[in-house]
Amino acid sequence: MIIAVDGPTASGKGTIAKALAAEFGLPHLDTGLLYRAVGRQVGLNGGNPDDPAAALAACAFAESLLDDPELRSETTGGLASRVSVHPGVRQALYERQRAFALQPGGAVLDGRDIGTVIAPEAEAKLFVVASVPARAERRFREMQLQGRDVALADIAADLEARDARDRSRAEAPLVAARDAVLLDTSDMGRDEAIAAAIAHVRAIVTKAAGSC
Ligand code: C5P
Repeated sequence: MIIAVDGPTASGKGTIAKALAAEFGLPHLDTGLLYRAVGRQVGLNGGNPDDPAAALAACAFAESLLDDPELRSETTGGLASRVSVHPGVRQALYERQRAFALQPGGAVLDGRDIGTVIAPEAEAKLFVVASVPARAERRFREMQLQGRDVALADIAADLEARDARDRSRAEAPLVAARDAVLLDTSDMGRDEAIAAAIAHVRAIVTKAAGSC
């Protein structure tokens, strides 16, 4: 079974995807991390993230970069959002994501275009959303725990800028697949959001078993 979990930054999709992977015994890929690695590599190369050639060159990042804690920073998130608009970058990262999705037994992938581009055949698709204030507050708390000093207003502004860029890009924009189920986590705690996602996937599994 392939489970696609898409949605904007800090919507809770990563937490939900990890929980679904644990619940259904599937491997999990956080695809945002790949775009973050490209963004970070452009920075390390001293390149311009808006330049398609510089962004494409950065797709040859070393695997060890995926463990760099700096990938989780807001700065790298912004760079990731800028490199991800280039079709060449999306193409360069496509095969890796597609192969992960198609591995025997299935997988859980979270990102922006899993249900629409990477695995349109996914049996379960969730599109996780939350209001900007709810997402900014979550990201703020995360940053505080990491000892990073960032203002709440700056986080909210950054989220809105990234949402706008992710939604308006020509290639694989952030949009819910037609057959995705919308999960709004604005007023949900972590456990409630996870329980709702598990219930949705379990219903699909049960229905599939019933139709055999
Ligand atoms: O999910 P995360 O915030 O880590 O993603 C960072 C950036 O990478 C996003 O803002 C988005 O621009 C890009 N991304 C993407 N497609 C994906 C995953 C992430 O374009 N499947």
